[in-house]
Amino acid sequence: MAMRISSSAIHRVQRPVVLPENHSSRIPSGVVLALRENWSDWRLILTLIFILVIYDQAMYIVRKGSIAGPRYKIPFMGPFIQALHPKFESYLAQWASGPLSCVSVFHKFVVLASDRDIAHKVFKSPSHAKPCIVPIAADIMGSSAWIFLQGRAHTEYRRGLAGLFTNKSLGIYSSVQEQVYSDYFHKFVAHTSANMGKPTEHMALFREVNCALSCRTFFGNYISQDAVKKIADDFYLITAALELVNVPLSMYIPYTKPWLGKRTADAVQIEFAECVAACKANMASGAAPTCIVDQWVMHMIESEIYRERIASGEKDVPKPTNLIRVFTNKEIAQTLFTFLFASQDASSSATTWLFQILAQRPDVLERLRQENLDVRGGDRTRPFELGMYESLTYTNAVVKELLRYRPPVIFVPYETTKPFPVTPTYTVSKGAMIIPSCYPALHDPVAYPSPEVFDPDRWITGDAESKAKNWLVFGAGPHDCLARRYVPLTMAHMIGKAALELDWVHHATERSEEIRVFATIFPMDGCPLTFTKRP
Ligand code: HEM
Repeated sequence: MAMRISSSAIHRVQRPVVLPENHSSRIPSGVVLALRENWSDWRLILTLIFILVIYDQAMYIVRKGSIAGPRYKIPFMGPFIQALHPKFESYLAQWASGPLSCVSVFHKFVVLASDRDIAHKVFKSPSHAKPCIVPIAADIMGSSAWIFLQGRAHTEYRRGLAGLFTNKSLGIYSSVQEQVYSDYFHKFVAHTSANMGKPTEHMALFREVNCALSCRTFFGNYISQDAVKKIADDFYLITAALELVNVPLSMYIPYTKPWLGKRTADAVQIEFAECVAACKANMASGAAPTCIVDQWVMHMIESEIYRERIASGEKDVPKPTNLIRVFTNKEIAQTLFTFLFASQDASSSATTWLFQILAQRPDVLERLRQENLDVRGGDRTRPFELGMYESLTYTNAVVKELLRYRPPVIFVPYETTKPFPVTPTYTVSKGAMIIPSCYPALHDPVAYPSPEVFDPDRWITGDAESKAKNWLVFGAGPHDCLARRYVPLTMAHMIGKAALELDWVHHATERSEEIRVFATIFPMDGCPLTFTKRP
């Protein structure tokens, strides 16, 4: 959940007391003069503040209506301080307070939907609400980025991208991914050795491996290892900029978090655009695709050839499977940046919990290891292939359970574009944030008995698979996660290979089970682990 306090927003709060331009013709100038003469400046200022407080409070009470939430708002700022340091327990308490609950921070009214069906309604009502990630996201990614498109324009753009995540395409990326995992597993072991076998927090390394995985999957070898490392190192600056509240115009103030985040994002997009140029030259020479950008450019080339043949009057020309327009280097770079942006925190969270939980559950790890060995015909050095995936029933169940038990995305902020009647008795006002939550549905004891137990078997012998409505890990509706197949596949690849090649130990602390909210969720102690190579 996030919001930014913009200067325009502050003006909005003040609007009721800003007099219209021609006010002097309606308010007798004598009254103004009398006030100016008889009231001290302080008295005028205090009166003005008093009117603003009353207005702000009244607006809050009206918007809140019958839903759960504090009876009164802390004048103007609301729970601004708590919003700067979000606590997972506060979200749990907020969700528990009702199917719909609210807070108001400065001018922004925020409604949280903990109820599964209301969450679905929000996800699936593009005519009433649009995703807003966090408001500063448009500044960071560029407001022209495709994920900010709506309606038909969004659907069409997205259809072209879906071609990059088909089974055929996903199969192409696995060899480049295998190499990333090999490199980083080697690093994990080297890291432990360098630290004399003592545990170190692995959250940062897991962020790095995911950044490298994304960069290589998107750009193959067009991107240098140094660039990958730099992006991985700097990406947290982008995440850090995405706070619930940013001080107005802070993006323009050097060394503030938004300024650093924007600078980093711009540098990454320049790097990406150079990779796209290299890719276009390579694909024009007839190279075979090995990564997402190759695949995308190849679809553009195929589409161009098709259009030219049709234009020249040829008949019965087979239509390419993904008929798309030609995109500029900048557009492609920006789009792949949105992928990195969407994936980095969520994938890092999932990786961190996966390694922590499997270290704590040797029974689960052993079954997963055996299954991965079997699917490779007993040869643990055999690289992962797409064809193995369907046979990895237990590994899949582990990944699904992980995503349910520790969902990387606990909610998705949307903003209403018009008054939105989310229930027969409650309408969210236009311009408010409405936040469908994923976590409560994934921890619903009716759908998933003993939801606080990590139990992969609920996906095999239990009925978890049939609870499709509760499966909100990837959202729902027209903006649902583009990578809902890519994510489980890459996670199965990673953990299967790790299980075969590595042993690891989790050195639990009293904060290991505490949840830290940093864009997504992480163990509070940063996941202290040690790694060794399996004999
Ligand atoms: C564990 C990993 C991930 C999780 C849990 C996750 C979850 C989500 C969720 C909840 C949404 C919002 C859905 C909605 O509003 O209905 C979303 C959107 C999106 N995700 Fe993911 N995601 C993950 C990884 C990825 C990866 C690896 C990519 C790209 C390769 C990606 C690309 C996207 C994109 C592009 C969108 C926006 C789609 C649109 O607006 O049309 N995600 N994701």
